[in-house]
Amino acid sequence: MASSLSVVVLAAGKGTRMKTARAKVLHSLAGRSMIGHVLATAAALDPVRTIVVLANEMQAVEAEVARGPIAARIAIQEPALGTGHALMAARQDLPDSGEVLVVYGDTPLVTAATLRELLEARRRADAAVAVLGMRPPDPSGYGRLAHDADGLAAIVEERHADETLKREGVCNAGIMALDAARTGPLLDALELREAKNEYYLTDIVMHARARSWPCVAVEGPWIEGIGINSQGQLADAEALMQVRLRAAAMGNGVTFTAPETAFLSVDTELAEGVEIGPYVVLGPGVEVAERAQILPFCHLEGVRIGPGARIGPFARIRPQSTIGESAHIGNFVEIKNATVEPGAKANHLAYVGDARVGTKANVGAGAITCNYDGFAKHRTEIGAGAFIGSNAVLIAPVAVGDGAYVAAGSTINRDVPPGSLSIGRGRQTDIPDGAARIHAKKKSAE
Ligand code: UD1
Ligand code: CA
Repeated sequence: MASSLSVVVLAAGKGTRMKTARAKVLHSLAGRSMIGHVLATAAALDPVRTIVVLANEMQAVEAEVARGPIAARIAIQEPALGTGHALMAARQDLPDSGEVLVVYGDTPLVTAATLRELLEARRRADAAVAVLGMRPPDPSGYGRLAHDADGLAAIVEERHADETLKREGVCNAGIMALDAARTGPLLDALELREAKNEYYLTDIVMHARARSWPCVAVEGPWIEGIGINSQGQLADAEALMQVRLRAAAMGNGVTFTAPETAFLSVDTELAEGVEIGPYVVLGPGVEVAERAQILPFCHLEGVRIGPGARIGPFARIRPQSTIGESAHIGNFVEIKNATVEPGAKANHLAYVGDARVGTKANVGAGAITCNYDGFAKHRTEIGAGAFIGSNAVLIAPVAVGDGAYVAAGSTINRDVPPGSLSIGRGRQTDIPDGAARIHAKKKSAE
């Protein structure tokens, strides 16, 4: 059954209403592009083929599709003459039998469960077309579903709808399940709509009914059907996605002090017993193990955090990092491409980049790894139980041995042997009457 499914993602529209140079479907929500969300949802349906319809000059979208979770073929629609015309562009890649699911690149909140319901409804009714309907709080801009005694009769674009239909009609989410065998003749029947110089995909319902082929509508949760045409709608969709992600995390036993101020990514993994304080931003690639605490105002991405670790407040962790069990990363500490082993601490004002901090090592206030010499990045190794004094500068490549002490204020540019106390700083000189001489000089100048 699933093996006869083809998915077509329409994404050739210019997205001019976004008012940015970037293709609309590359704008992201919860750390993933719109098209990435749609492809991930498509992948969950296990289709035999996936086709993405793009316009020329959309290489950036093509690259994003290639990075996606499912192998997809690209069909080029040029010029872009509407949604119906976009499906025509995919036609040579579509089979003569089975099912075709049409989704829009700008409708990223739809779930696989709702798509499955739509596919099932089409099969049950042996319909030529099944359409996903919804009732969003603001219906403006959507087509409306018009019914008659025999079911779904037409989809009427808002600009062509009368007042009653506009007020009372269920909105078209744009997502359709089609019987592949009947799709060809319906596409052939589409006519250019002069008003917009477009072929409307929505017109296939009317053409199916003209042939007495049944059409059905399934109403889904409105959140899943919202389409993104503008920056405002993108922000609204982001907010809805965040609500969904936080709710799922709370359902798994995560505690949020102020959920509305925590921002998650679609791939964020938070284990049971994790605590997230106010104003925390979790970018892509964050995995937090049980009982870890993320205190307020942290920004994390690309990091695995071990059980019981304590991060923040005000910590920044950048990609390719690992924080071990019960480690502490404190305020104004930046970690990048580093492994902080279990029980290690960097509690104040430190930079740890391209480094390993060994088990139970301590990185003092203001200590930094100097990982960049202006040409290349180099690594710093800090051994287990080592102590890096305040304001120490570790010039990489360099290693501090297990259990060693680096004195505060040291500049370390060669390896510190295990167990050594290493001091690398200018010696202090005390001039007993020096201050008095300065004061006297000041006085005589007055
Ligand atoms: C469309 C529907 C409308 C529905 C709404 C749901 C039509 C005629 N209207 O309107 O009934 O309520 O979606 O969000 O279908 N696209 C192409 N090639 C084109 C034009 C569009 O690939 O030539 C793609 C776009 O990239 C986009 C999708 O199709 O992903 C929808 O296009 P858009 O212009 O946003 O349609 P709406 O005006 O929102
Ligand atoms: Ca749209």
